[in-house]
Amino acid sequence: MQHLLSEPGHNLRLDADEFTLTEQQEAAFIEALRDAPNSTMVLAQARDAVVGVLTLQGGKSRAEAHLTALGISVGPGWRGRGIGSALWQACQSWLMNTPQVRQVLLCVLARNLEAVRLYQRWGFVEEGRLQRDMFRAGQYVEYAGDGPLAGQALAPFRGS
Ligand SMILES: CC(C)(COP(=O)(O)OP(=O)(O)OC[C@H]1O[C@@H](n2cnc3c(N)ncnc32)[C@H](O)[C@@H]1OP(=O)(O)O)[C@@H](O)C(=O)NCCC(=O)NCCS
Repeated sequence: MQHLLSEPGHNLRLDADEFTLTEQQEAAFIEALRDAPNSTMVLAQARDAVVGVLTLQGGKSRAEAHLTALGISVGPGWRGRGIGSALWQACQSWLMNTPQVRQVLLCVLARNLEAVRLYQRWGFVEEGRLQRDMFRAGQYVEYAGDGPLAGQALAPFRGS
């Protein structure tokens, strides 16, 4: 995680020095994903190393039990080789077999155009934008050009 957060211009929501989870806390996070019926995690491994991670983190309250939030990251040097798409494919049967989950939420910066296009190909549609979602280097994310943003998306794998 630290090396992802240290990439210049990364699109993640933390700075490297803000990621302070201990190994024990990370283990607890993974156990919580394993134990929650509306959460799961998929790993991509190559040469005994983890090169990609997908998490679906379910809502914790009754009102949000039908939601699960998608997080996905592929290591530098491994991107653009189909690993992200394979991770998404790998969780499809879990989604199909978890009727409690009716909506997958995904937030992505609008400036991350390649990722946005990829998620649209996976079936996500934009539901909205938060104009001042992140503040970096003393400015709102608009400084990057295309306007900030986080959209929420809905995977159409199941009707409302
Ligand atoms: C976005 C991400 C998870 C996609 O996984 P991936 O394994 O690179 O994607 P795949 O190989 O399955 O798909 C390739 C497509 O992803 C797109 N893509 C998005 N970000 C990319 C990146 N940083 N490098 C390469 N391809 C990327 C490419 O445009 C490509 O589209 P194409 O097939 O039309 O050429 C991964 O690139 C990544 O972790 N990027 C950096 C962090 C990030 O932006 N995360 C998004 C948080 S919401």
